[in-house]
Amino acid sequence: MIAATLKSSVFDKLKFNKYAKVSDFVNAGPMPIRHFNFKFDPKTLDTKFYMQKEWASAYFAALSIFLTYGEELVIETARYHRDFIKDPVLKQRITALIGQEALHSKIHNEYNDIMIPHNVPVQL
Ligand SMILES: [Fe+2]
Repeated sequence: MIAATLKSSVFDKLKFNKYAKVSDFVNAGPMPIRHFNFKFDPKTLDTKFYMQKEWASAYFAALSIFLTYGEELVIETARYHRDFIKDPVLKQRITALIGQEALHSKIHNEYNDIMIPHNVPVQL
């Protein structure tokens, strides 16, 4: 509902479509939740996977730590606001978002866990 209103009131009237593609979220099917299994293994983890530099790779380790907390914040926020939503399609999409973020958080936790044996301080 919000996406359709935004699209018809802003994007269509201002002709933004010639600059950027606006997805049709209203008529699109439900958001698929993708399940990943990266099979992280501390024995095969390359701590210099990015640019063959430990410091550059550590940036991604730090990002993974904070994304875990960020995703939990998104989940909490979405759960809180979902209770106020009346539109069933939007409510379903919020539920899908919560599921997606929970999977992201799980993957980051798995990644964070395999860095511990490599002395990357991933626990706060
Ligand atoms: Fe996420």
